[in-house]
Amino acid sequence: MQDKPTNLPQTQANGEQLKPITQVVLERRATNQFLPDEVPEEYLNAILRLGAQAPSGYNLQPWRFIVVRDAENRKRLQSAAFNQAKVAQAPVVIIAIGMKEEWKRTADEVFREGAERGAGDPATWEKSRDGAFKFLDNMQSMPVWVHRHTMIAYTTMMLAAEAYGFDTAPMEGFDPAAVKREFGIPEEAEVCALLAIGRGQEPEKAYPGRLPLNRIVFSERYGTEWQEK
Ligand SMILES: Cc1cc2nc3c(=O)[nH]c(=O)nc-3n(C[C@H](O)[C@H](O)[C@H](O)COP(=O)(O)O)c2cc1C
Repeated sequence: MQDKPTNLPQTQANGEQLKPITQVVLERRATNQFLPDEVPEEYLNAILRLGAQAPSGYNLQPWRFIVVRDAENRKRLQSAAFNQAKVAQAPVVIIAIGMKEEWKRTADEVFREGAERGAGDPATWEKSRDGAFKFLDNMQSMPVWVHRHTMIAYTTMMLAAEAYGFDTAPMEGFDPAAVKREFGIPEEAEVCALLAIGRGQEPEKAYPGRLPLNRIVFSERYGTEWQEK
């Protein structure tokens, strides 16, 4: 296990200030057209490092990410993604996958080291691990469980990219079997989503609007309208 990342870039690549979180959330658009401009390695690593800091149940981190930059590979990915142009256009596309088995093999490291770092009791980490296995065996749909967690790390990356001034395109339009076959992804994996990162072409895609809060948020119980003050 690793410590928190240090020396992350503290400005955008053009020297401008990082965007604050409210601006990140409001300015992010699912970008349709990308320029060929590279995402500097330092920034790509920062985006990946921040994504890896996402929370997960029991800290089991069942996500894995494949960074696709090679032009030929992006073309192959585009073919597996219903030919969406942005897959070949964007300089970076991340394939986010959730592993239904692999986390079981790293669980000892997660529980033991977590306890040693003060986030658990070093005397009883094995008991905690066994409790987690039992919970996950009995309570969860494994595909749902890995999607839930992988999409949190993925979303963290999407927002980190925006904070650094990059544009992104989240994508679910792909054939998971083809993506698995083309990129050597193990059978046990769920292919959750693709994330294109780069610089969007102008004009930016229009904001499509959102449902109002009083239709998506309830107060205390389902059906009782949330009153926005
Ligand atoms: C998980 C996910 C998958 C998506 N898949 C696609 C896709 O395959 N192709 C596409 O053009 N847009 C895709 N979108 C983009 C959405 O259409 C877009 O986010 C939505 O219309 C809202 O627009 P905005 O993100 O610009 O606010 C996806 C978005 C999400 C979050």
